[in-house]
Amino acid sequence: MVSAPQNKIKVGVLGATGTVGQRFIELLAPHPYFELHVLAASSRSAGQEYAKIVKWKLNTPIPEKVKKMVVQECSKDAPGMKDCGVVFSGLDHDVAGDIEASLRQAELVVFSNAKNYRRDPIVPLVVPLVNPSHFSVIEHQRASLGLQKGYIVCNANCSTTGVVVALKALEDRFGPLETIMCTTMQAISGAGYPGVSSLDILDNVVPHIGGEEEKIEWETAKILGGVNEDQKGFDYHASHPLKISANCNRVPVIDGHLACVSVKFSKQPAPSVEEVQKAFREFTCEAQTLGKDVCPSAPERAIVYHDAPDRPQPRLDRDLENGACVSVGRLRECNVLDVKFVTLLDNVRLGAATSSVINAEIAVAKGLIV
Ligand SMILES: NC(=O)c1ccc[n+]([C@@H]2O[C@H](COP(=O)([O-])OP(=O)(O)OC[C@H]3O[C@@H](n4cnc5c(N)ncnc54)[C@H](OP(=O)(O)O)[C@@H]3O)[C@@H](O)[C@H]2O)c1
Repeated sequence: MVSAPQNKIKVGVLGATGTVGQRFIELLAPHPYFELHVLAASSRSAGQEYAKIVKWKLNTPIPEKVKKMVVQECSKDAPGMKDCGVVFSGLDHDVAGDIEASLRQAELVVFSNAKNYRRDPIVPLVVPLVNPSHFSVIEHQRASLGLQKGYIVCNANCSTTGVVVALKALEDRFGPLETIMCTTMQAISGAGYPGVSSLDILDNVVPHIGGEEEKIEWETAKILGGVNEDQKGFDYHASHPLKISANCNRVPVIDGHLACVSVKFSKQPAPSVEEVQKAFREFTCEAQTLGKDVCPSAPERAIVYHDAPDRPQPRLDRDLENGACVSVGRLRECNVLDVKFVTLLDNVRLGAATSSVINAEIAVAKGLIV
């Protein structure tokens, strides 16, 4: 039985003023054992009190304890940074690469939402409800870079996360999948703030999100695949290469990415719709079994299965489990593949900040954060 840490662990947030950064602050301010210690953003914000510089967009108030904290530069030399047991990054990819690498080199532990290191062969790409077993490659990452403590863990693209949790439930129960087709309808908050201009998105659907389809296609294989026997890399689902095709669309929804997914199982005859529904309803993951003491941000239900024929819907279902679950519904037979269904996740919570925080909680349980 793993128990929660006795002492609080100081944490930093990079990109603390942004869309993902604000969710980090909301989640971490009341956290039982992570303690907000450093808030960092661009030089435009550095040196100013958080409440004075942030354009706060959440419908909960700015937590009192951060209002007067002075925003720092995203540097290993920022006051307090080196005392942080974890640094959560909500940085844009154009700046995340160098900053995250330099913090790792300074022996800091970085949990990133940016795409820069997701493809790195020694960096775990972890969706906390799916593949925390990939943390075993951290030791090799540290050894490869001559580090004692520092490492980077990425979480997945938000649209990948919404799909891959449901796919994991199917692979756990029925073995490897063969073909996956998915079409997403993605919220505008996925593009950060201020994001897509209102004249482009109101009364409209934009059938292109740069790089997103490719991310779903290759990230899914890294996440659902295993770790090599020597714990020095990932097998990318090599024994059963996945055929995945994604279409991504931006829709005028503020938060919550929906995906219509069809799958074909390797196992034939394929499981029935009833069996698939049972697999979704009964899915549990390590983050849940670790318990609330250790993993307070994990959802009670990793997948919430909906019976109503018109659910899940972003506005009605994105807040379930405090935005930490994936909703699944509209399950039925598929005339071309085997079954089809709809998934929904909160793109900024489980799709970004909440995943990083649960990942860090699991890393604490595994003794990877001290
Ligand atoms: N939004 C989502 O749903 C979502 C989901 C999954 C992953 N992500 C990923 O998470 C990351 C953040 O996305 P976001 O939506 O939160 O973006 P955002 O709202 O644009 O926020 C960007 C943050 O980065 C900071 N920043 C910008 N330039 C910087 C610089 N040169 N040096 C240091 N900090 C700088 C900004 O600080 P200032 O306020 O000082 O400019 C702000 O805090 C991206 O990599 C994105 O792909 C986002």
